[in-house]
Amino acid sequence: MASQSASSRTTPAGITVRLLRESDLPAADRIFRLAFGTYLGLADPLKFTGDADYIRTRWLADPAAVLAAERDGELVGINLAARWGSVGFFGPLAILPDLWDKGIAQLLLGPTIDLFDRWGVRHAGLFTFAASAKHVGLYQKYGFWPRFLTALMERPVGTENTTTQWTRFSALSEPEKLACLEACRELTSSIYDGLDLEREILAVDRQNLGDTLLTWNVSQLVGLAVCHAGCGTEAGSGKCYVKFACVRGGPSAPREFRRLLNACREFGLSTGAATLTAGMNLARVDAYREMLGAGFRATTQGVAMERNGEAGYNRPDVFLVDDWR
Ligand SMILES: CC(C)(COP(=O)(O)OP(=O)(O)OC[C@H]1O[C@@H](n2cnc3c(N)ncnc32)[C@H](O)[C@@H]1OP(=O)(O)O)[C@@H](O)C(=O)NCCC(=O)NCCS
Repeated sequence: MASQSASSRTTPAGITVRLLRESDLPAADRIFRLAFGTYLGLADPLKFTGDADYIRTRWLADPAAVLAAERDGELVGINLAARWGSVGFFGPLAILPDLWDKGIAQLLLGPTIDLFDRWGVRHAGLFTFAASAKHVGLYQKYGFWPRFLTALMERPVGTENTTTQWTRFSALSEPEKLACLEACRELTSSIYDGLDLEREILAVDRQNLGDTLLTWNVSQLVGLAVCHAGCGTEAGSGKCYVKFACVRGGPSAPREFRRLLNACREFGLSTGAATLTAGMNLARVDAYREMLGAGFRATTQGVAMERNGEAGYNRPDVFLVDDWR
């Protein structure tokens, strides 16, 4: 019998991987907070992300994209995937701290990659802790390579009354919403072929998590921003989180981007938020400069890892906000 190498370890027996069920949501939320809170050294790990919600809202958005690892009927790990048309990313990935380094994350990662393949995702990635050799090494095993830093940024919402022209997805009638989703697809596809935010826009609309802000040039959509606001959303109390935003490319992109950021600020103000948060992949250097110019400051930095090291829409000329957190 071959002897085991120093680095080998045995995956705990009896672990099964399946889709997360609604009845698992409280346990899944606990694993998420406990795992991240423990990794970050919080005094009370369960307080990680406060009253923000990632697990229930994302599960409701797409239950077929949330994987669970179970042992003896007990949930021990989760991974959530997101499908944005031709683009996919995963996380939060979380394993019960008592069971780290036993291969359980890898039991979830294989099926996650299978999901991407089944969905026909062309650009896949994730956001992780840049300083962790373990995290980077783990994802590299699946063909994800570290690329640019991603800054999680914020600025005060402020109290200035500005008069930016924008409209709300939530104010549209059902037929208008369908037409608007088509316009959003056309806009995002002009940035990266097949990029489609429909799931995020509908999740915000149906779960009442915030709103999708729209900016227009006469009748052409030039910008969109999917925003969460308040308790029970990805923002948390007192915050408005720009989960995704982009403007059409071209000479007027910087000006349109500034207008869209102003629209986000005005929306944040209307929700009573004190802080506007948004993430920026630093490969999008012109957009990053605009964020700094608009008063955003980084609070944390991680690294984006991308399958085969491909850039996707993370290019210098792209005016887009997201962080894959
Ligand atoms: C990160 C996390 C999900 C990993 O789960 P896990 O079940 O402990 O991971 P696994 O045991 O499946 O895999 C660990 C792998 O890390 C890699 N690794 C560890 N240390 C490494 C190092 N110094 N250099 C390179 N690779 C390293 C190895 O590939 C190892 O697998 P191997 O022993 O089979 O080669 C888990 O620790 C966790 O929940 N952490 C807190 C939350 C979190 O950080 N989530 C991910 C955010 S992106």
